[in-house]
Amino acid sequence: MTLKIIEKTGTRTHQTFTKDRYVDASTLAEEHRAIWSDCWLLAGLVSDVAVPGDYFVFELGAEQILVTKDQSGDLHGFFNVCQHRGNLLMGEALGHAQQLRCPYHAWTYDLDGRLKGVPGLDLFAEDPRCAGRDLKPVALDVWNGFVFVHLGDDPMPLKDFLAPVDEILSPFDFGGMTLIEDQTVYLECNWKAVIDNFSELYHVDFLHPQHQRMVDCHNDLVRLFEGGHTGVEVPGATVNPKFPIPEMPTDIQSAQLQSLDLDPNDFKGRVLEVRAAIQDQKRTLGPERGMPYERFTDDQLSDVWQYNLFPNAVLSFTPEHCWLLRPRPHATDPNQCEFDKISLVRFPSTGAGADAKPILGPASRDGAAQTPNARPKRDCFSYEAVISGEKTMTDTIDQDVELLGQVQQGMRSAGFRDVYLNEDEARIQHFHAALDQRLRG
Ligand code: FES
Ligand SMILES: [Fe+2]
Repeated sequence: MTLKIIEKTGTRTHQTFTKDRYVDASTLAEEHRAIWSDCWLLAGLVSDVAVPGDYFVFELGAEQILVTKDQSGDLHGFFNVCQHRGNLLMGEALGHAQQLRCPYHAWTYDLDGRLKGVPGLDLFAEDPRCAGRDLKPVALDVWNGFVFVHLGDDPMPLKDFLAPVDEILSPFDFGGMTLIEDQTVYLECNWKAVIDNFSELYHVDFLHPQHQRMVDCHNDLVRLFEGGHTGVEVPGATVNPKFPIPEMPTDIQSAQLQSLDLDPNDFKGRVLEVRAAIQDQKRTLGPERGMPYERFTDDQLSDVWQYNLFPNAVLSFTPEHCWLLRPRPHATDPNQCEFDKISLVRFPSTGAGADAKPILGPASRDGAAQTPNARPKRDCFSYEAVISGEKTMTDTIDQDVELLGQVQQGMRSAGFRDVYLNEDEARIQHFHAALDQRLRG
């Protein structure tokens, strides 16, 4: 189903488009119609609505979508709006309730959205419960541990929307991973500047020099899919051969080797052999460590993949972990967005020995020692808190966060007219082509 696979060809291509899509307020309304109301959107985790009564609220610009699990175990999505006078219904981003009660005049709704309680019924000429005042539903479906919603009237089935990537991603079983961290940072940039940033590796050698010690960004494989989805597969547990190859494994490779009971000293002068050794050792140790490595290919055992689901869900993952990176648009300002980083980890299956050590993935960012006792609270903060070092989203993301405000400020300058993209930025081109197609209707 891949439309195009791009290996480094040395082909010189470029594409431009004007900056208005990042800075003009009129774009917000157009995107609301053509993107946010006409695409399946990754709203949250199935694990956040695990038992009847669980709910969460997904915010998207001026809209809020309430996702609930009813008493029969069915999931529902609604606009989070009371049908009496339009107050926002549930004020908490996440919670558990037997019924949904509006704080204004105490109308109550069942978890399936039906209006059931109205104080002062005799004040109404007609019983509001028989007057079409149930919560306004949105389409909802689940895929691979994630809840998706669609705000439009006539959505295509979710499985069709994700068909180009479904089979490739299904072995990773994100639903079998556990949430270990939930962060949101307020950024002063357009949501698409975040997507662009996570759609190319062109900047990595310069902005993230630490990556040359863990992955080979020079030999990445790019995939472009129907519907605007994209993927990049980056060899991991190795070094970037664009730079001098070290004599000994890097600190990051060494930590990975040791987590698999391998001695980094054995790889003196053989740094490019570490990747294959890690693949082999994962196959060997998988059963005793309670990790389902049998369903992955050799490449998947060592590499870092990142798949962007159109329009705004970026999944960066290995067999051991997944980051969901998700920019959400601001309600009124094209120069702002909220950016979520949701970290999931696969813990050893219960059959594994109690002393099974966690296995570190290629970026050594994915080992959490223990399953958290409770769901981690969502931590929301400003980008200034990241720049000052008060908060961190890992070195790599911190570097991106620090940069993104500068990009937006530069784009707003009279001295900048349009972006100018190269072959390494093919995923950006593909994303914007899908965006344009929808905006043109
Ligand atoms: S607005 Fe909700 S009960 Fe009045
Ligand atoms: Fe980056």
